[in-house]
Parts: sequence; C-alpha cells; structure tokens
Amino acid sequence: METLRGNAADHENACARVATQFSQRWLRNYVRGKLRRDRIYQAAYELLRSSSAPILDVGCGVGLLAFYLRERACRQPVLGLDVDARKIRYGVTIAAAQYRDIDLRFHDVGRTVPDFSGNVALVDVLHYLPPAKQTALLTHLADCVEPGGILIVRDCPRDAGPRYWITWLAERFAQVISWNLNAALHFPSRASIDGVFGAAEFERESRPLSGASPFNNHIFIFRRKQSRSPGILSATGRTRGGEPVRPAGFQPAAMF
Ligand SMILES: C[S@@+](CC[C@H](N)C(=O)[O-])C[C@H]1O[C@@H](n2cnc3c(N)ncnc32)[C@H](O)[C@@H]1O
Repeated sequence: METLRGNAADHENACARVATQFSQRWLRNYVRGKLRRDRIYQAAYELLRSSSAPILDVGCGVGLLAFYLRERACRQPVLGLDVDARKIRYGVTIAAAQYRDIDLRFHDVGRTVPDFSGNVALVDVLHYLPPAKQTALLTHLADCVEPGGILIVRDCPRDAGPRYWITWLAERFAQVISWNLNAALHFPSRASIDGVFGAAEFERESRPLSGASPFNNHIFIFRRKQSRSPGILSATGRTRGGEPVRPAGFQPAAMF
C-alpha cells in the first residue's frame, strides 16, 4: 500500500514538474492534464525503468515521454524525432535548459529512420501514415530493438466500435484546432501491427490502455528475444548479427 501511494505521488510530482517547464499557460495546463490522465507515460516508465539502453521516441511531439522519464529518475539517453517543427521547438528549448541527453530533432519517419539500437516508443503516430508506410516503419523499428529490448506501440485499433469513433473524433478535433498534424487518418488494425513481429524473434503482448477515458487506446509491447541468430538478414536487408549501433551516429539509414 505504501509503495502504491509512493508511486502515485512520484507520478503526480513528475507530471507537475514537467508541466512547469512550459512557459505558456495553455500548454502548461494541457501538459499537466495529458500526463496525469493518459496512462501511456506511467506504462512506458514501468516498462523502461530497469533498462539502461537508449530510447528512440518516434513522433515525440514536444518531448513529454522523455521529460516524464527524466522526472521519474530514468537516465537513459533519448533521441526524439518529429515532423512538427513547432512542437520540436518547444521541446528543444526545454531539453536544452533542463534535461541532459535528450536530443529532439525535426525528422520525417515516413521517409527515413535512423540507425539505432535500444528501446523504441511509437505513441499515437502510426495512424498518420498510410498502411504501406506503417508496415515499413514498424519493420525498420523492429530492427532498432536490441536483444532483450522492447518496442512500445500505442495506437487506436480500427475496430469500428464506439470507442474507435470517439478516438477518431478527438483526433479530428486536435487537427481542426491545429495542434495535431493535418494528415489523412489511417487507424491500423491489430493484425497489421502484430503481423510485423515474428514469434521467433519477438514476445508479443497487447492490452487496452483506456483507463477512465472513452478512447480506444491500446498498448502493444514487442520484446526482442535475447539471442539474435548471427547472420540472419532482417526485413530491411540489414544484418542482425553485428554490434548494436548507438544513437550518437544517427545516420538516416533507409529510404522507404
Ligand atoms: C498525437 S501526437 C503524439 C506525440 C507524442 N508521442 C506524445 O505522446 O506526446 C503524434 C505525433 O506524431 C508526429 N508525426 C506524425 N507523422 C510523423 C512523421 N511522418 N514523422 C515524424 N513524426 C510524425 C506528429 O507531428 C505528432 O507530434
């Protein structure tokens, strides 16, 4: 009971500390509410806290996941990529002033992904890409997961239930007020996400992550098994037997 209470207090404090970094009041309020209510940040913390591997945060937005993890005493280097220059600007300013080893960059993952090895997060991004690009991105990101590491995907499966339509409406609203990218929406099916991760290489788990919200949020966790077979060619044509590549190099490696 004490531990649960401590964990809840640590979460609340981390949300408040991240929010205070944002100078505009509307953004501060949004960030505090988002971090407190959306269960993905706590879930990601629980999954990533015991790993020292670097984290690739794909579609990082203003950097909420990276900042939240720092405020929960996670010290892993984070490389965040996003195609929204305005959000990246907010995040870069805060990272430079407050947080070490958080590198947020303008980058379109619909075109390339960097060489990387570690853990990967892809939170609410897939549905901005058309299906073929979703598969290509997931395939590349699978290659970025180090042995024993994880890829966390959070998105809203397209199952046509009421929660799906509420999520769709909320996303359209965020687009109309110009907070989210105004691209066509392609919510993925569960099978199209799971299908990229072969059972020989990955342990797979997924569950609803809606909490008290009306949304159809689900978390998909893909953990790469410890041993990679030497010399096996990955789906992207890269060899999976060599030394892991750390994010410092950050070479855009593959054109889709
Ligand atoms: C709903 S927001 C989620 C932001 C962040 N993951 C979070 O949890 O706060 C989705 C983000 O994905 C980004 N995004 C969409 N398509 C992208 C692309 N092709 N390359 C990089 N980022 C992209 C958007 O700009 C946006 O910031």
